[in-house]
Amino acid sequence: MAVADHAASGARLWGGRFSERTDEAVDRLNRSIAFDGRLWPWDIRGSIAHTTMLGETGIIEPSDADSIIAGLQALEQDLACGAVSLDPAAEDVHTAVEDLLRRRLGPVAGRLHTARSRNDQVATDVRLYLREAAADLLGGIRELQRTFVEAAEREFGVVLPGCTHLQHAQPVLLSHHLLAYFWMLQRDAERLSECARRANRLPLGAGALAGTGFPINRRRVAELLGFDGICENSMDAVSDRDFVVEFVGCAALLMTHLSRFAEELILWSTPEFGYVRLSDAVTTGSSIMPQKKNPDVAELVRGKTGRVCGHLTGLLMVIKGQPLAYNKDMQEDKEPLFDTVDTLQAVLPAFIRMLATAEFRRDRMAASLTRDFSTATDVADWLVRQGMPFREAHGVVGRMVRHCEERGIGLEDLKQSDLEPFSELFRAGFAGLDPESSARSRTSEGGTGHDAVRLQLDRALELLSGAPA
Ligand code: ARG
Repeated sequence: MAVADHAASGARLWGGRFSERTDEAVDRLNRSIAFDGRLWPWDIRGSIAHTTMLGETGIIEPSDADSIIAGLQALEQDLACGAVSLDPAAEDVHTAVEDLLRRRLGPVAGRLHTARSRNDQVATDVRLYLREAAADLLGGIRELQRTFVEAAEREFGVVLPGCTHLQHAQPVLLSHHLLAYFWMLQRDAERLSECARRANRLPLGAGALAGTGFPINRRRVAELLGFDGICENSMDAVSDRDFVVEFVGCAALLMTHLSRFAEELILWSTPEFGYVRLSDAVTTGSSIMPQKKNPDVAELVRGKTGRVCGHLTGLLMVIKGQPLAYNKDMQEDKEPLFDTVDTLQAVLPAFIRMLATAEFRRDRMAASLTRDFSTATDVADWLVRQGMPFREAHGVVGRMVRHCEERGIGLEDLKQSDLEPFSELFRAGFAGLDPESSARSRTSEGGTGHDAVRLQLDRALELLSGAPA
């Protein structure tokens, strides 16, 4: 048989027209089994659906279809329990699975590939894989959102300096700060569901690129595999990987969001900030400096964000400029996709543990709000309420800040007699403002006022208890 005769090593599904052996260096470059081997469960599932349809339509004998299906099912079990394994020298997962089936069933296995190409087969496998990966990732995002909500509830009432430009801006509730991440994750979840929904269409039946003359029933295969419909154009079906780009894009944005909180925890756990104590269980030590407790989880999240964003760029570059339809470049879609999934599967549980066990230090946050001028806007707003135009009030308070800075004091240290030279409106009696009441006063919807944040928490809980994104 030409197939076996021509294999330098391992199985392949072609060879009839070749008279020379493939160069070993070329085999090594071409072979994808080392990374696409993990697609076997979806490859088999796709094959079972395809064979079912081939039998139902009479494209192959129903009894042959039955043997092939039984063979594939037995193979699935044997692969799952390790009784058999894929040939590591096979060209790719499709080849390895078909080769195992052929060994089991003999020549009838050769009927499986009727009206099918590896081009529509691989596109189907990857879509099936991605659908499960997205569902799994969505579960992880949900759990992280829940962890943020729990922390926000636990820390309700704690105030810290809200920053812009990393400079103290206005006091905010820690819960408000934490919930900001809840909403980022909410959009990540929505984006991911959207992407999974769009990807859920069947490429199989596209053949190599042009469709097939056999009377296949693509709708039936789509139904068997749980796809919402079919890819409408066979050339598009085998040659686009936009769903992989979208998935990795969603992941890159998710990682980017996580990297922001990771960076905050890194800063907040320094002695300079001291806002948070990370648990021993999520930190690591140094081999030389006995005192060290390093926020490795947060740093790895930050670092791995670069890795996932790199995959996104890589994928875009793989697809860029490829003429229609399938090209072998497409084989390069798998490693970035798999690595993105693996990275998130490693990152999310550790990130969740890091947040769930973080001890936020109310005292340090309160201390950093002392003499930090973060209530300056509130003073200006008070003057506005006394009738002064805001722009003028801004100037008055600016001068007050300069005055305080020159004396090394804070706004809270100014007495009634110190205030009056800045504006006679202060004669009405300015009671001063502590950070807590400053935060409380920001009552607008979506603001950091206690009631507004309560409302936000309720909405977040409602979303978590409701349907998936
Ligand atoms: N390993 C290949 C891939 O990932 C499978 C499809 C091969 N198709 C082909 N025409 N050589 O893209």
